[in-house]
Amino acid sequence: MIILRSIKELKQWRESQDNNIGFTPTMGALHNGHLSLIEQSKKHNNKSIVSIFVNPTQFSINEDLNKYPRNEEKDIELCKNAGVDAIFIPSVNEMYPHSDETNLIPPINLANVFEGSIRNGHFSGVLRIIIKLFHLIKPNNAYFGKKDAQQLLIIKKMVNDLFLDINIIGCPIIRDCNNLALSSRNTYLDSASYNLALKIPQSINLVKEAIKKGEVESNVLENIIKKNLLDFDVDYCNVVNYNLEPIQKIQKDSSLLLLAVRINNVRLLDNIWF
Ligand code: PAF
Repeated sequence: MIILRSIKELKQWRESQDNNIGFTPTMGALHNGHLSLIEQSKKHNNKSIVSIFVNPTQFSINEDLNKYPRNEEKDIELCKNAGVDAIFIPSVNEMYPHSDETNLIPPINLANVFEGSIRNGHFSGVLRIIIKLFHLIKPNNAYFGKKDAQQLLIIKKMVNDLFLDINIIGCPIIRDCNNLALSSRNTYLDSASYNLALKIPQSINLVKEAIKKGEVESNVLENIIKKNLLDFDVDYCNVVNYNLEPIQKIQKDSSLLLLAVRINNVRLLDNIWF
């Protein structure tokens, strides 16, 4: 596995490759969720590249940029063991050499709701780094987790709007042995908070069971979760279509339930794609 730290090195590597590249962008602190994306990339591409970059422009002022988990050595080891061909680990200065730069504004209706209404400018920062990485790496396929559902939908929209020739592949949520959706931010949970957090996947499972029994009404499904998480700070719990508009009944392959919960200041996301 080759480790690339500069854009110059990345470009040289890219020029020596053919046109079958799978790309998994990450902010490091890799877990089995990331490894499942890499596994998909390995399966469907000749070469797989991973980026590790804690992107400052997607953190708002009061967010956790400085304390975001970083473990480069372990990440490199995990990538090596997963059979990654190249790993791109640039510095902030490499990716953002100018203080005043071209920015990308995501569509308001997709980006100013849910995560976007809580994390000011977050999706603009995500698109800003992703478009740079896409231009440098020129992947055929790029892999994103379905846990960050809104991010996935916004990136798909950008690729469509800007006529980029890249397949965006959403991969299923990976859960730990207690069913909690994997996230780098789970490392912030102490054991008491972790135990509380398990109510989230329990609520998600109650909804899945209700659907199996034939329930399709959005408000009934949302209320199952709200009732089960009564003592929690639920930022949002909504059934929406892929334009993130509320809908009355779930629709197969075109709707999802979005859930964000705060536990002792740790924000945890979970969702169901119907
Ligand atoms: O999902 C993430 O880890 C980040 O938002 C991403 C897509 C790597 C962009 O920095």
